[in-house]
Amino acid sequence: MRPPPLWPLWLLLGGLGAAAPPLDSFSQLAAPQRLELHLYNDEQTLSWEPSPPSNDTRPVVYQVEYKYFDGSWNKFNRVNCTDITVTKCDFTGGSRFKGFSGLYSVLLRVRAKQGERTSDWVTLTWFQRYCNVTVGPPKNISVTPGKGSLIIHFSPPFPVTRDATFEYRVHYWEKTGTQQVRGPFKENSVVLSNLKPFSVYCLQTEAQLTVRDKNICRPGLSLSNVTCHETTGDASNRLQVILIPMGTFLLLLVLTGTCFFLFLRYQSRVKYWFQAPPNIPEQIKEYLKDPDQPILDALDKDTSPKDDAWDSVSIVSSPGKEQNVLHIL
Ligand SMILES: *[C@@H]1O[C@H](CO)[C@@H](O)[C@H](O)[C@H]1NC(C)=O
Ligand SMILES: *[C@@H]1O[C@H](CO)[C@@H](O)[C@H](O)[C@H]1NC(C)=O
Ligand SMILES: *[C@@H]1O[C@H](CO)[C@@H](O)[C@H](O)[C@H]1NC(C)=O
Ligand SMILES: *[C@@H]1O[C@H](CO)[C@@H](O)[C@H](O)[C@H]1NC(C)=O
Ligand SMILES: *[C@@H]1O[C@H](CO)[C@@H](O)[C@H](O)[C@H]1NC(C)=O
Repeated sequence: MRPPPLWPLWLLLGGLGAAAPPLDSFSQLAAPQRLELHLYNDEQTLSWEPSPPSNDTRPVVYQVEYKYFDGSWNKFNRVNCTDITVTKCDFTGGSRFKGFSGLYSVLLRVRAKQGERTSDWVTLTWFQRYCNVTVGPPKNISVTPGKGSLIIHFSPPFPVTRDATFEYRVHYWEKTGTQQVRGPFKENSVVLSNLKPFSVYCLQTEAQLTVRDKNICRPGLSLSNVTCHETTGDASNRLQVILIPMGTFLLLLVLTGTCFFLFLRYQSRVKYWFQAPPNIPEQIKEYLKDPDQPILDALDKDTSPKDDAWDSVSIVSSPGKEQNVLHIL
């Protein structure tokens, strides 16, 4: 069967909101509410909120029907969700009904039933599985590090018919770098080449479902979890990575050693070049060696006048020492 054209849907949608004929309020059972369709990969479920409780204590059951469009709308058919007590119908796993194929427009409806009383049918907005689905990330992702590259293998998120294909994209980045994207790829393996050797890259993959001849179809998609991997490289790359920091370290070590050796070897000359710091005047030195010797005598031995001697004392002494000296004087 060929994929149905879309245009008649708009005509149909206009008819969906038509009000149900008024019924006797006693025989009328409240209809299910808030129908929700879950389409994720090949999961297809419809859920709803139960009818509000009433005086009637008999169990409430639900009936689900579908119809699809192939040029015109077919009749409503029952699915394996007839007289169920749960508020959820799973279309994925039936043995007779194997879920909705990708491109048919489908209408689903639900009603509640209690004894002989039934509610109105509640109809969900039409959908096309391949257009309304949210596509998960590729499955079984494995990453093999290569020389300055990463090789990624994966499986499609779910099997699709020939009406649709997957395109894959890889988002990747270095620990501190900006994110880049490669793709789209049609194959189930991708080689990220031209990466730096011995560097850690993190990546996420995504699968996009593209439906043939349908530009208006925009299925949702989600990214895989982030994983990080280190690339490998040639032995020479490895040497570079190891040798550059090691070489720098060794060079510094040799330089330091040489300086130290030269210093020891030419210590005296170095001392000569860097003049010794100013010494304490001889007289004071002697006084400090032998405090019994009167300093004035020592000073008088030299020809320097008293006032000058005072000056010379105050220049070389710290305030504390100066006091000492003055005290002794
Ligand atoms: C429930 O039963 C009470 C008394 O039996 C009655 O007054 C009320 O109208 C009933 N409610 C409904 C929704 O039938
Ligand atoms: C219908 O669903 C029930 C359980 O939900 C399962 O046991 C049964 O095999 C299904 N029948 C068909 C015809 O799919
Ligand atoms: C499916 O997608 C179409 C187009 O985006 C939208 O109008 C429609 O409401 C969706 N159907 C459901 C059941 O969400
Ligand atoms: C993923 O791998 C597991 C085992 O490793 C395998 O059983 C499964 O079929 C694979 N899935 C796909 C979609 O290839
Ligand atoms: C991603 O990670 C979360 C939590 O770490 C985990 O629950 C989930 O299954 C992972 N998804 C995939 C696709 O591996």
